[in-house]
Amino acid sequence: MKTYLKDAIINRRTNYKLSPQSPISDDEIQEIIRFAVKHIPSAFNSQSTRIVLLLGEQHRKLWELTKSVLKGNKTDEQFASTKNKIDNAFASGYGTVLFYEDGQVIEALQEAFPTYKEKFPEWSHHTSAMHQFALWTILTDVGFGASLQHYNPLIDASVAQTWSIEPHWRLVAQMPFGLPTQHPGEKEFKPVDERIRVFK
Ligand SMILES: Cc1cc2nc3c(=O)[nH]c(=O)nc-3n(C[C@H](O)[C@H](O)[C@H](O)COP(=O)(O)O)c2cc1C
Repeated sequence: MKTYLKDAIINRRTNYKLSPQSPISDDEIQEIIRFAVKHIPSAFNSQSTRIVLLLGEQHRKLWELTKSVLKGNKTDEQFASTKNKIDNAFASGYGTVLFYEDGQVIEALQEAFPTYKEKFPEWSHHTSAMHQFALWTILTDVGFGASLQHYNPLIDASVAQTWSIEPHWRLVAQMPFGLPTQHPGEKEFKPVDERIRVFK
């Protein structure tokens, strides 16, 4: 493995300190998304991942919508803290990547390969996770900070309605990103050797 790839993996961190600027053009962001969607592997080469990229005003609309959904689900005190987090750590950024998986693709695989019927939803999540990790790393590599959020399923219906998302696309995760205003803090690591077994 070349050192620069390891560095990119180390540099990918959860960053909640974002400002609404971008180090690259919107076309370049879209090119990164196209690259990831094309090249990241998927179970059975299903290519089940779908992405919705929200930039600028559309990104802010997502987090306004998330707040209005959450307001109805939390006490006033809980909502105040959630609102603070959403405003300062997510909405404050430049864009959000929404990770979807196409349920029609998964169901077709379940019909085609009944032996693995139970496994396909799990593998679909693995496939999504590969896209999440790759995009998180690439976005960091070009100068963004990002985090990974899970306001699904609470926001699914409102998001689908707002952006006319196909009913068979299933929301898995949200990745707000923006220009970092601060480095993430130190991270604690469990002893790696306790987590690995080698036999040779
Ligand atoms: C599968 C997965 C789910 C996560 N879900 C959330 C989440 O819902 N909200 C959040 O703020 N961070 C979430 N994170 C971020 C983790 O808390 C974070 O990656 C971990 O603490 C390590 O920190 P680092 O990202 O800075 O290396 C998630 C990370 C992973 C890999």
